[in-house]
This record gives sequence, C-alpha cells and structure tokens, in this order.
Amino acid sequence: MSKRDLLDLSALSYEDLEGLIKRAASYKKGNADRPLAGKSVGLLFEKSSTRTRVSFEVAVWRLGGLPIFLSSEDIQIKRGETITDSARVLSRYIDALVIRTYEQKKLELWAKYASIPIINGLTDLHHPCQVLSDLLSIQEERGKLQGLKLVYIGDGNNMANSLLEGCAKVGMNVTIAAPPSRLPDAGIVRQAKLDAVKWGSEVVIEHDPEKAAEGADILYTDVWVSMGEDQDRDALLKVLRSYQINDALLAKARPDCLVMHCLPAHREEEITDAVMEGPNAIIFEQAANRLPMQQAILELCLKP
Ligand code: CP
Ligand code: NVA
Repeated sequence: MSKRDLLDLSALSYEDLEGLIKRAASYKKGNADRPLAGKSVGLLFEKSSTRTRVSFEVAVWRLGGLPIFLSSEDIQIKRGETITDSARVLSRYIDALVIRTYEQKKLELWAKYASIPIINGLTDLHHPCQVLSDLLSIQEERGKLQGLKLVYIGDGNNMANSLLEGCAKVGMNVTIAAPPSRLPDAGIVRQAKLDAVKWGSEVVIEHDPEKAAEGADILYTDVWVSMGEDQDRDALLKVLRSYQINDALLAKARPDCLVMHCLPAHREEEITDAVMEGPNAIIFEQAANRLPMQQAILELCLKP
C-alpha cells in the first residue's frame, strides 16, 4: 500500500503547495471537516517543542482524531529498541506519526519501516511544516508569493534549507545571508536554483547581510544556536554576531518589509526586541498559522 510521507518539501509539487495553502486558509476560516475521525496520530519528539507539538495535537483533535504524544524519554527506544522494530509496531496502532529528531537519516529509516505516513516535525536538515505555514502567512499578507524577495539572515540551518526548498518552488526570490562557515546544504541550494530557473526567479547565497537585505519584501531569521548545537554556542555567537535583524538592517529593506521568525527567538541575538515588537513583524501571526497548516498537512498525508 502506498503512503504519503512528508520528510521534506522536495516531493511536493507547486499544485500540492497551492492546495495546502488553500486548505489551511479554509480551516482557519472555521471549516469543521473531520477527515481524521476514528484515526490516531503519534507525536514522537526527541527535542523540545512548543509550537509544533501543541499545534499538531490540537490539529489532530480538531480533525476528529486522537493525538498521542510520545516523548523519546518514555518509550522503549530510550532503552535500545530499534527504529526498525518500533516503526513496525507503531504502524499497527496508529495512522500517522509526526517525528522531531536529529539526523534526517533517522527520519528516513522510520519512513522506510513504517507502513503509515511519517511527517517531519523538524530534523537538523529540514523544517518543512514551518515553511508551509510561513507561505500561508506571506500569501495572507501580500496576496501572492511569486516574485517576492525573501531574505534569510543568519545560520544556514534547517530553516534556511526548508525556506530555500519551499520558496523556490513557488517562484519567490530567495537570498540566504550566512557566514561562509555556516552555509545551507549545498544539494538543497543546487535544487532550489534549478527550481528558480523555471520561474525566472533568483536564489542567491550571500555573506553580507546589508547587501542581501536591499529591496527585501521579507526579512526572516532563526536562532543562532539550534537544538543539538549548544556545545558550540560561544563559537556560533561569534561567527553570527553581524547577522542580526535590527533597525539598521530593516532600513535597507522595502518600507513595507515583513519581518518573520519561526520562534523561539533569542531577543538581542538574531533579532532585536525593537524589531520583534515593531510594526513590520508578523511573527505571532506566523505562529498562529501553524495550527491550520498542520490540519491541512494531516489531511493531505492521511487522505485514503
Ligand atoms: N517553530 C517551531 O517549530 O517551534 P517549536 O520548536 O516550539 O516547535
Ligand atoms: N533552527 C532551530 C529551529 C527551531 C524551530 C532549531 O533547530 O533549533
């Protein structure tokens, strides 16, 4: 039996992305469809989470299903049970599994051995569900996606990778401003450049944040120290110091530039308090959109 995993954004077509944005907007307006009635969804988290965990739990419940949170601290994986065994066992109880873990390879192993859809709730390499809801936020604010210039400032991490993948697919111009030692994944950059060619849009990797921010429709950032990298905190702070969204950087962008952050934020590190609380920021609307987008994602992955 075929199943629909969401391990990254590469398998989604433009039409899939458009469809997800439309369905999420409809759920946001109050659509009360319950395509998960009688189904259950596991949420297996090996890292902390506020937004992804809670929005998925509420989304499953709103769609008529049962969410089951599985902390990696509590299940037998902690005591050495293998992913290959766990995936086959859990597939016999639940209908889909959202996973937040470290290596993308681990997620792929779950997907290989599970007979149910596996949804990426963040890995070191990707954060696809976040970017899907961000596309909804941009569409709501600007009424379009194609042709807009999104500039990501900071660490070339999972967020930078997924933004490259998602924004290039919908015809946005994407610039990543990151230090040479913290660039996004080279394979993902290559593919994003190929996707951009189809639209006549641009994917640019830049080291100078000020140059990158010129003419931006959207400035986006994320923490300098991602989960799992705390041991490198001092070095990361040093190398990323000049990659901050502040008033001076915002002044380089278009006057109506949107400021976005996936959260959690470390104020006065990657973004100043003033910009976060300023009129350009749509950061909490972004967080709100996680919920209707998770509904749309679950519906798509669990479609019979
Ligand atoms: N943006 C995001 O994924 O937040 P959490 O880590 O709180 O889930
Ligand atoms: N890059 C961050 C994203 C958090 C949502 C991390 O991986 O910790």
